[in-house]
Amino acid sequence: GKKVLFFADFGIDDVLALVYAFFEEEIDIVAVVTGYGNIPRENAKRNALFIRSLANAEHIPIIEGASKPYTGKVPDYVPEIHGDYGLGPFIPSEASQQGRIEDFHYVRTLFHQYEEDDIYVVNVGRLSSLATFFVLYPEYRERIKDVYIMGGAFLSPGNVTPVAEANIHGDPYAAHFILTVGKPMFIVPLNVTQYAYLPNETAEYIKQYCPNPIIKQLFKPMFDYYFNFYKSKSTEPLPGPPLHDVLALWSIIAGRSVTFNKAPVKVVTQEGEAFGQTIGDFRQVKDKADYPAHYVAIGVDYPTFLNR
Ligand code: BDR
Ligand code: CA
Repeated sequence: GKKVLFFADFGIDDVLALVYAFFEEEIDIVAVVTGYGNIPRENAKRNALFIRSLANAEHIPIIEGASKPYTGKVPDYVPEIHGDYGLGPFIPSEASQQGRIEDFHYVRTLFHQYEEDDIYVVNVGRLSSLATFFVLYPEYRERIKDVYIMGGAFLSPGNVTPVAEANIHGDPYAAHFILTVGKPMFIVPLNVTQYAYLPNETAEYIKQYCPNPIIKQLFKPMFDYYFNFYKSKSTEPLPGPPLHDVLALWSIIAGRSVTFNKAPVKVVTQEGEAFGQTIGDFRQVKDKADYPAHYVAIGVDYPTFLNR
């Protein structure tokens, strides 16, 4: 399968993405970087250890990521969406989180173990850890095959402010830096992921047929917690909660089921109402904005996604 270095902030959809990856033959997680975001970094570490032990995947290194954004601000955690430990109401026991956590410099060791162009980076949390990696180790940055980012909101509302999405808004400086290093990246934004619902029937099916007894037991309370938040906030009836991070991870193997459009992209880093907004120049003109161009997802074959 495709080798993935997975950067996450271990909320519920991050957890589901990792669990999905463990069951997906076409994806091999080579290491996980756990940063702050939905929850504090320390809790994200506990959660990552817990999920790894559930999957009996102790051979997969967990690397400590960033604890705060480059803005210097205290992060805004969202336990009301994800729970304190990113598992809804569930708190992982001390016993379930034994195991080693590598320090950040371990990313070098990791890249040494693989050939150039072997590793995909998928980042589904704030971008602070990945930006740090790019600054510290440009030589390894060049060895990455492709970078996929769940983040941004284009021509549509944000989820933190009217125009900004959480992973970008949480550290717009990091996001700006990453998108200007000169490598075109794949961006899977909120306006696409918000339609990647997990319907109740599918949740019931997973709950019943999941081969892992603990995931089976965990799944429903986690799903209900996450869905209840979205239901309580939405003015429209929702078929289920959105699996942002699962879709972003799946898009590396989705082929034409996720459609990308190459466009100049910019992150607003000036403090103010538009802080953290992503601007894509999708105009059908020859003289587009001179921001660096990236591949921005514009659509998904939802039934295929759900099936997988
Ligand atoms: C993104 O922010 C987090 O809440 C989710 O885990 C997802 O990565 C959605 O805006
Ligand atoms: Ca996330």
